[in-house]
Amino acid sequence: MEVQSDYLVIGSGIAGLSFALESARSGTVAIVTKRDPQETSTNYAQGGIASVLDPEDQPELHIKDTLESGDGLCKEDVVKMVVREGPGRVQELIGLGVNFTRQSGPEKKLDLGMEGGHSRRRIVHAKDHTGQEVEKVLLERAREQPNITIYDNHMAIDLITKSKLIKRGIVISETRETCWGAYVLDVKTNQVKTFLARVTVLATGGAGKVYLYTSNPDIASGDGVAIGYRAGVKVANMEFVQFHPTCLYHPMAKSFLISEAVRGEGGILLDSKGNRFMEKYHPLKELAFRDIVARSIDLELKKSGDECVYLDISHKPAAFIKERFPHIYHTCLKYQIDITKEPIPVVPAAHYMCGGLLTDKNGLTNIDNLYAIGEVACTGLHGANRLASNSLLEALVFAKRAAKSASEDLAANRNIPLSKAPLWDSGSATDSEESVVVTHNWDEIRRFMWNYVGIVRTNKRLARARSRVQIIQEEIKEYYWNFIVTSDLLELRNLAQVAELIITCASLRKESRGLHYNLDYPHQDNEHWKRDTVIWI
Ligand code: FAD
Ligand code: SIN
Repeated sequence: MEVQSDYLVIGSGIAGLSFALESARSGTVAIVTKRDPQETSTNYAQGGIASVLDPEDQPELHIKDTLESGDGLCKEDVVKMVVREGPGRVQELIGLGVNFTRQSGPEKKLDLGMEGGHSRRRIVHAKDHTGQEVEKVLLERAREQPNITIYDNHMAIDLITKSKLIKRGIVISETRETCWGAYVLDVKTNQVKTFLARVTVLATGGAGKVYLYTSNPDIASGDGVAIGYRAGVKVANMEFVQFHPTCLYHPMAKSFLISEAVRGEGGILLDSKGNRFMEKYHPLKELAFRDIVARSIDLELKKSGDECVYLDISHKPAAFIKERFPHIYHTCLKYQIDITKEPIPVVPAAHYMCGGLLTDKNGLTNIDNLYAIGEVACTGLHGANRLASNSLLEALVFAKRAAKSASEDLAANRNIPLSKAPLWDSGSATDSEESVVVTHNWDEIRRFMWNYVGIVRTNKRLARARSRVQIIQEEIKEYYWNFIVTSDLLELRNLAQVAELIITCASLRKESRGLHYNLDYPHQDNEHWKRDTVIWI
């Protein structure tokens, strides 16, 4: 089966939906999304969107905070652009119907939250379920658009590029590498469909599932990075994996996030003896940059042998806590933890991928007609460590810019007929009866990534991880070609690819900076390493 549209958007989080809404003005949009459309990291975002909306705040301060957090690797022009365009994008969200929390006074001013590394209160939020509110409204607006069709339970496998078409004997006139859409698995029927488009956008989110413990939902298996890399897109800075300092430590809670906003409102970190420890590590204490807080907790746990530390907000009035953090309050209560009365057991967990597919200021990759936006992209905003709540902001700014640039591409090539693509060829592949192999490999990757490529790394641990991932990738290669593709097998292949990219970038960087900390090179080396780690096929 073949589907044709002007724009193909892969992913239905804040990046994909924002792009689709903007692009629906100039053409038809097909959105493919591998589970239910709202099952995205966006939907789980708590803290909010960082943006200069208070007259007392200044863009220069947000720029300074972002650059400091990025530890020397942010692209300053990108930072300035995102910070300056951000407030406009937040106003547009409000215009679409997003209901951010407001103060109670007559002016009903936006209530601005505080998070680590910010020198001012500037986080616009919907209590502690900002992402859910944003996702709901964007999906509602997308569903109202006649130009947008959403294909749920459709998983992109690989891109259709000029090189691949030439290999299959199709004559192509373009000289540069160009993208014409993607092969997509309909997960419910197990049929592979051909989606052809003049512009393709990867908006597939992050890769937290590469690690055993993560705040991310199950969709975050790094598909977009792996798909882009296989097609020849440049990938950068994959060593900078952000670990969120405070996820709930509870056997049944699957790393539920306890928002940094809790520390922003006065929450303090304690060890098991009730001692506050962050003052030993940084003058900003609990509100230091995220890499510093996560590493400090890791060190405390290694020293004490304890399984978790504690985050305490119980000194604040109970009514305030319930009003400001209803989602966190009710979720913790389900696990018999009353956060108005007792500290919350917390541990760090993999949270955000600062690296990704390298793009320009419009989200364009090095392949023509192929854009990457949102967490899958590496735009230069985050550098070596993302500032809290700058991710949703980046997705909004780049979705808008990419849509403008893509509509210009479309106007230029609208009359060129869409390239023909052969149907997906599954060769002599048969149904697999050994799904246990997939589960086992998946589990092994996540464990060795946690143990060897986590918050603190060494050369030896990285080498161990590399040899493990190579064996698994060999097994997957054999499996992939012999058996009919399933979503589990595709995710495993992508997960292994992303693990390999993280290990490669981490092994290349012979220094410690931002989120990458290697005990064998504990210092920053500005002479040789004040640059991105860029790799491609
Ligand atoms: P997502 O929202 O993750 O969407 C990805 C989409 O791609 C999904 O629809 C998925 O199904 C689809 N997809 C993936 N692979 C495929 C495939 N092969 N085929 C088809 N579809 C595919 N950031 C902030 O700025 N502020 C916050 O307060 C904040 N809180 C967070 C809290 C949590 C618990 C988490 C996990 C993250 C948080 N972040 C926050 C980070 C932020 O939420 C994400 O970086 C952001 O939402 C990513 O948006 P996205 O559109 O790029 O991807
Ligand atoms: C949080 O609420 O702590 C998450 C914020 C972020 O990841 O930017």
